Amino acid sequence: MTKIAIDGPAGAGKSSISKKVAKALGYIYIDTGAMYRTVGLKAVKCGIDTKDSEGVASILPTLDIDIRHEGVEQHIFLDGENVSDKIRTPEISMAASNVSAIPAVRVALVDLQRKLAENHDVVMDGRDIGSFVLPDAEVKIFLTASVEARAQRRYKELLEKSETVDFDAVKEDMILRDKQDSTRAVSPLVVAEGATVIDTSALNFEESVNAVIEHIRSSVR
Ligand code: DC
Repeated sequence: MTKIAIDGPAGAGKSSISKKVAKALGYIYIDTGAMYRTVGLKAVKCGIDTKDSEGVASILPTLDIDIRHEGVEQHIFLDGENVSDKIRTPEISMAASNVSAIPAVRVALVDLQRKLAENHDVVMDGRDIGSFVLPDAEVKIFLTASVEARAQRRYKELLEKSETVDFDAVKEDMILRDKQDSTRAVSPLVVAEGATVIDTSALNFEESVNAVIEHIRSSVR
């Protein structure tokens, strides 16, 4: 089985690029951020403070998360409900970042992620895939872009969903999330050993996808 790990900060285009790359290679795409988002959503639904480790840990034993694939599209279900769209709000982005710093949450989700990668060729994206979840991945990529470029992309995405958004607020959220994700004690966002950094600030979507595919093809023979 071939494993491709794609890590990087929020808004670097990981999900859309990874999805396209997985399709081109005929691999399964696994979005691990969606799993942290779903735990965040569950905590919010239960009225639990997403920074309260004990409170969030208390929902884990009965957590019912299911991942299903339809072609390259990943759908995520919480308690039987497809929450793939509900988890894409600014509120849940921050909730995901908060719960992702809780060790018990990471233990539960990393276990699920490794199981999913056992029997398939995968492109898996997240923050700690190359450094911790799949340290033996054949290809490790750290996908990044300037904070300005990432905030612009996220702003456009939210506008397209016709949400009321303020660019400065999007950028502030991104800076805060970057800081939280890179400075937490467990599995912080780092460039994994052996990873290749690809900066997409000056690349459009198609160029970014091509840069990633070229790198993978030259690494996996
Ligand atoms: O990739 P994303 O924006 O959907 O991720 C949401 C949050 O989940 C992100 O702020 C950090 C966390 N996360 C993580 O800690 N580890 C991962 N492998 C993926 C996401």
